[in-house]
Amino acid sequence: MTKSVVITGASSGIGAALAHEFANRGYNLALCARRTEKLESLKNALIESHKDIQVITAALDVNELDTVPSVLSEIKKTFGTVDIVIANAGITGVRRTGSGDLTIDKNILQTNLFGAIATVDAAVAIFREQGFGQIVGMSSFSAFRGIPGSAAYSASKAALTNYLQAVGTELYRKKDIKVTAIHPGFIRTEIDENIEKFPFVIDADKAAKTMANAIEKGKSDVVVPSWPWAILRNVMPKLPESIIAKIF
Ligand SMILES: NC(=O)c1ccc[n+]([C@@H]2O[C@H](COP(=O)([O-])OP(=O)(O)OC[C@H]3O[C@@H](n4cnc5c(N)ncnc54)[C@H](OP(=O)(O)O)[C@@H]3O)[C@@H](O)[C@H]2O)c1
Repeated sequence: MTKSVVITGASSGIGAALAHEFANRGYNLALCARRTEKLESLKNALIESHKDIQVITAALDVNELDTVPSVLSEIKKTFGTVDIVIANAGITGVRRTGSGDLTIDKNILQTNLFGAIATVDAAVAIFREQGFGQIVGMSSFSAFRGIPGSAAYSASKAALTNYLQAVGTELYRKKDIKVTAIHPGFIRTEIDENIEKFPFVIDADKAAKTMANAIEKGKSDVVVPSWPWAILRNVMPKLPESIIAKIF
């Protein structure tokens, strides 16, 4: 039976690149995001280049927490089963602490943390019922050390990594349900138009290949690209503030 993958935030960047990568690997795809016109053109391109797979789209705003389970169960009805759910939807936002306006911080935590939790929870409900599946959460290297100017973003990703670890442990006896936390470094996408000013930036399609390999291997924790971020993961928490401030 053809395996299926659900991707939230599939309308651009890493999510769209993962859609191409999993289509190349023969998976059926459910593409979710708010910008449905982008999802439709991605779907058309994928169907054009991959005649043997099924691609569906679903309008999904992960901030509307109550709608997430119904969107995922509609997808399960269409495919019969769901093998992989990638909770990828996310936003960023720069804010200097002390401005007195928490709007940006609230939005970031709502989407990156509560939106992801709603996705993980709805996916795990399906996996428990069908007896198998894999949930993938898109965290960040900023989970390793808070990044100046991105305090809320860093906190949302650190919390997501922690949440995924806890879910993985909750499910460790269920050998056929896997939990994967992905920690990307800097990936060239729409999320930050100034991404080139940062070090070690890679293209989304290259990142998607590495991510898909790790997902298929059922890894619980992934850093993409591994150089230099797998090493920096251990080094960053110990670096003095002056160096972190200089880099970021
Ligand atoms: N690029 C990087 O360097 C980097 C590094 C570390 C982690 N990440 C993480 O990777 C993930 C993907 O980011 P990206 O770099 O690919 O950025 P992107 O190109 O801006 O893509 C973000 C995706 O999230 C979707 N999204 C945002 N808010 C949503 C909501 N409320 N409901 C549903 N979908 C929503 C967007 O779709 P719509 O606007 O159409 O809804 C879009 O498809 C994010 O979680 C991000 O934090 C990225």
